[in-house]
Amino acid sequence: MWVSRFSGLGAHAIRRLTQGKYALVPRTPYMHVSSCRIKSPLQLPPQTHRYRFTTSATDSCEDGNEEEQTINVTFVETDGTQKHSKVPVGTNMLEAALSNDIELEGACEGSCACSTCHLIVADVDYYNRLPDPTDEENDMLDLAFGLTGTSRLGCQIEAKPEIDGIRFALPGATRNFAVDGYKPKPH
Ligand code: FES
Repeated sequence: MWVSRFSGLGAHAIRRLTQGKYALVPRTPYMHVSSCRIKSPLQLPPQTHRYRFTTSATDSCEDGNEEEQTINVTFVETDGTQKHSKVPVGTNMLEAALSNDIELEGACEGSCACSTCHLIVADVDYYNRLPDPTDEENDMLDLAFGLTGTSRLGCQIEAKPEIDGIRFALPGATRNFAVDGYKPKPH
């Protein structure tokens, strides 16, 4: 009974089709969707939109490989030497300094419990782009030598596209030891 019923429905559909009641719709070609920001030409925004890419790296969607996005960061050492580095987005500035052989101490290893990762943001404009320091960071900054109006703790600053091109000056001394060549020796 079921078979004949379905057969009847099939015949009905074919009849309607031949009478022009149903339109044959061509199948939409399968479109690959990946995790890229712009997934297909159909998803492109109107031409009136303009995008400004401030980071030095690009996202690559080919073969599923995404290049690591980095920003440009410069550390100015106490003798005036400038060290330029590419820092992966999401990395904090203590990690960035250490991985670029910058002499920044980081005694508490980034847990915001010391002031030895003290950095001075060289440009006020960049300083203003950073999120406000937390109360914990402010407490630790109060202990830092040579505190300035643009001082921050390196371990609390995360690399983000907005701060691409930021420059940091290292202070001449920290609470634990001087970084201008002099290191106290035990008596
Ligand atoms: Fe101690 Fe940043 S390493 S506060």
